[in-house]
Amino acid sequence: MTTQLEDLSPANGSEAGTAPSPPSDMKVWIDGAVVDAADAKVPVIDHGLLYGDGIFEGMRIFGGGVFRLDDHMRRFESASRALAIDLPGGIEAIRGIVLETARAYGAPNAYLRLVATRGDALGVDPTQCGAPRVFCIAAQLTIFPAEKRARGIDLITSSLRRPPADVLDPRVKSLNYLNTVLAKHEARLRGADEAILLNQAGMVSEASVANVFAMRRGCLVTPPVTDGALEGITRMSVLDIAKRAGIETAEKSLGRFDLFDADEVFLTGSGAGIVPVGSLDGRKIGRTRDLTDRLTKEFERFGRENSTAF
Ligand SMILES: Cc1ncc(COP(=O)(O)O)c(C=O)c1O
Repeated sequence: MTTQLEDLSPANGSEAGTAPSPPSDMKVWIDGAVVDAADAKVPVIDHGLLYGDGIFEGMRIFGGGVFRLDDHMRRFESASRALAIDLPGGIEAIRGIVLETARAYGAPNAYLRLVATRGDALGVDPTQCGAPRVFCIAAQLTIFPAEKRARGIDLITSSLRRPPADVLDPRVKSLNYLNTVLAKHEARLRGADEAILLNQAGMVSEASVANVFAMRRGCLVTPPVTDGALEGITRMSVLDIAKRAGIETAEKSLGRFDLFDADEVFLTGSGAGIVPVGSLDGRKIGRTRDLTDRLTKEFERFGRENSTAF
């Protein structure tokens, strides 16, 4: 069964009276065991639920292995340090949980969502929380249907700006995603698929759950993470693949001008992979799809070669 976790459209069960239950094949590691999603429960005073006080990773299983597991573990550990959440058992124990979840789920291709919250407390004071809570979900996830990908997805420029690092550092993959959830909602309400968020200086930071790339004048450019982007694992992989293929790459600021003028624009993320973009704010963008298609093919091979078997 395919789950559109990121899709807020009514067709996906958000109409009154049709609240979706978790897909029957979804598995969750929680409290020391892997259980069916329907049996995975967290208390209503979990700080992640009440305040978005926690961190997460979204990972892909490719061909029976977890893609770039060590990089995901490094980023998760960095986020835990940034928020001062002590990971129970340390990062090695967390790594074991991810592999145990993947093994129990068993599918050779799937999506994993690892979450750590600060624990339980009703008030906002983080010092009052009990022990941090960890859980890991395994499921199937398709963010954009194949026909959308074939056409290239439609973007809007969100009216919301990405918060600067002194408000909430976008490099921390925290559970506080209201900024990008609302940007995505804005895109869906305007009939588009995804939103680009600009930073306070009006430069492109990223999309709601993906990094942005533009091929322009022979150079593949993505904004530096200091422009308000997550240090995406797929982003890093695409930069590696492109460099190895002799393609010039740069991490430098992009404006909307650069996207309108680009030969190709695509998004990258663990959930969606490499996603061609067809339009921005109602205007067709891009002239070719050659590099996007080439990188997509290379990425499939790279994915299998850089995965940790479970
Ligand atoms: C805000 C944001 N930017 C970018 C990405 C892409 O990062 P990655 O390639 O590591 O999945 C994500 C992934 O969830 C994200 O949430």
